[in-house]
Amino acid sequence: MELGLKGKTALVVGASKGIGRQIALSLATEGVQVTGVARSADLLKSLTQELVATCPNDHAVFQADVMLEEPAGLARKILDERGDMDIVVHNVGGSLVSRDPLGSIEEWHYAWQFNAGASVAMNHVLIPPMLKRGSGRVIHISSISAVMLRGNPLYAASKAFLNAYVTTVGRALAPKGVVMAAVMPGAVSFPGSYWDNYQTSDPARCNDFLSHHQAVMRFGSPQEIADVVTFLASERSSFMQGAIVPVDGANM
Ligand SMILES: NC(=O)c1ccc[n+]([C@@H]2O[C@H](COP(=O)([O-])OP(=O)(O)OC[C@H]3O[C@@H](n4cnc5c(N)ncnc54)[C@H](OP(=O)(O)O)[C@@H]3O)[C@@H](O)[C@H]2O)c1
Repeated sequence: MELGLKGKTALVVGASKGIGRQIALSLATEGVQVTGVARSADLLKSLTQELVATCPNDHAVFQADVMLEEPAGLARKILDERGDMDIVVHNVGGSLVSRDPLGSIEEWHYAWQFNAGASVAMNHVLIPPMLKRGSGRVIHISSISAVMLRGNPLYAASKAFLNAYVTTVGRALAPKGVVMAAVMPGAVSFPGSYWDNYQTSDPARCNDFLSHHQAVMRFGSPQEIADVVTFLASERSSFMQGAIVPVDGANM
């Protein structure tokens, strides 16, 4: 299938490892010029090398912390240096935030900002040029926790907000040529990930989790998520405005 991605530009926020890194590499494979954002200088350096080896292009990286820098200001800086983006993928987030359901508002705000707020703030700057052009793709990485509403309440509630944001804003953008969508991964493992460490430290409990919560009885891979994101980022997703796609091995 021709995805029509060759020559496009993409910003991947949270691109240095795991799911985000694979998304960056998968887009580069399709001929996209990638700009990646993350905190770790070493990982960003190796990402740049891997991107160029995958498909020579004017790829670039920004070392930034979206929880410390003002996200809209960061987005402005990126557009100033790299030009408008055809595709934006918001991948920053995770469940390693406070797990206290009666935590302080600061803890709730942190979890929300990490999993949703920072991307909302960046979209304020990144989407208007897409609207002017009448085309663009904005893909958020949510979680199946957003609909299963299980596990860490602060994480699940933040991702549930993100889903509501994508549905409602996705509808508002739909007539204007911009597709906003999300994927909801189930448990995804890769070397050094939370699940990889869990598998090593407590294989019995980890296998118990898999057999009770993922019908496929294995973890997903970053590639299995990146393949769907790459499709959503492409011209072929032209009827998927506001879509929220589970990629979760039949989470239950
Ligand atoms: N893995 C799973 O099982 C799973 C399941 C469902 C949903 N998800 C969602 O999928 C997304 C990616 O998950 P993952 O497991 O691949 O996460 P990960 O391994 O923690 O990677 C997150 C990426 O975001 C970057 N990042 C983290 N905090 C940042 C910050 N403050 N500023 C800038 N960049 C930052 C990280 O790079 P640096 O550390 O270099 O900054 C890394 O590139 C998350 O939104 C997560 O909620 C994951």
